[in-house]
Amino acid sequence: MNIGILGTGIVGQTIGSALVNLGHNVRMASRTADNPSARAWTKVTGKEASHGTFAEAAEFGEILFNCTAGMGSLSALQFAKTANLNYKVLIDVANPLDYSRGTPPTLTVCNTDSLGEQIQRAHPLLNVVKTLNYLNCDVMVHPHRVAGSHDAFICGNNANAKATVTLILMEWFGWSSVIDLGDISASRGMEMVIPFWLSLRNKLGTTDFNFKIAK
Ligand SMILES: NC(=O)c1ccc[n+]([C@@H]2O[C@H](COP(=O)([O-])OP(=O)(O)OC[C@H]3O[C@@H](n4cnc5c(N)ncnc54)[C@H](OP(=O)(O)O)[C@@H]3O)[C@@H](O)[C@H]2O)c1
Repeated sequence: MNIGILGTGIVGQTIGSALVNLGHNVRMASRTADNPSARAWTKVTGKEASHGTFAEAAEFGEILFNCTAGMGSLSALQFAKTANLNYKVLIDVANPLDYSRGTPPTLTVCNTDSLGEQIQRAHPLLNVVKTLNYLNCDVMVHPHRVAGSHDAFICGNNANAKATVTLILMEWFGWSSVIDLGDISASRGMEMVIPFWLSLRNKLGTTDFNFKIAK
């Protein structure tokens, strides 16, 4: 498939490389057409990799990943242009984190709203599916880095889009358990878990961990 990755950071690069390794064509996007990180990633990744503006990658991708800084996600998607987004699936792995007062970061939106919902409201014809945002990016695409069985969570308003993302998680990335939390408002909990994830990382001294639901 042709896949658009919005974002040139470590998350965009990790997901982009995993997708190229699976045989997909990936275009990585930035605010500028020739972002140095994207250019370097394209060079080392090979001929299935390319880069461009947010609009160029959104137009290119049949499936899109939002790997932008949460405070810039709405702006990035505005740059991507509505016509390039409508009716597509956007896999939203971003978190609305504000580092302006140092670490730990604070959430720019929570409790009664979320970044996932803000994106969905701004682009009503885009099928936003929130997932993997509560994991280190290596674990997102290589769940076997964490021993034993553990769960992926998704939410979104469109059942077909969630079925597509479930397939991607299981058949492309190797997830064995995907729990559907319901509509996009479940993004609130998925984003608010980040402070908890940060505490766990500090305690465990690794980013190779995940949640497993027992009942
Ligand atoms: N690090 C992890 O393992 C991890 C795990 C889970 C979730 N996440 C989430 O994944 C996302 C990506 O993280 P990252 O560390 O790879 O990258 P990042 O540094 O958080 O974001 C980089 C991207 O955001 C874009 N961006 C920043 N401000 C913007 C603005 N005002 N308008 C438009 N675009 C803007 C940048 O555009 P330019 O290319 O033009 O500079 C760049 O492409 C974040 O939301 C993060 O919270 C990270």
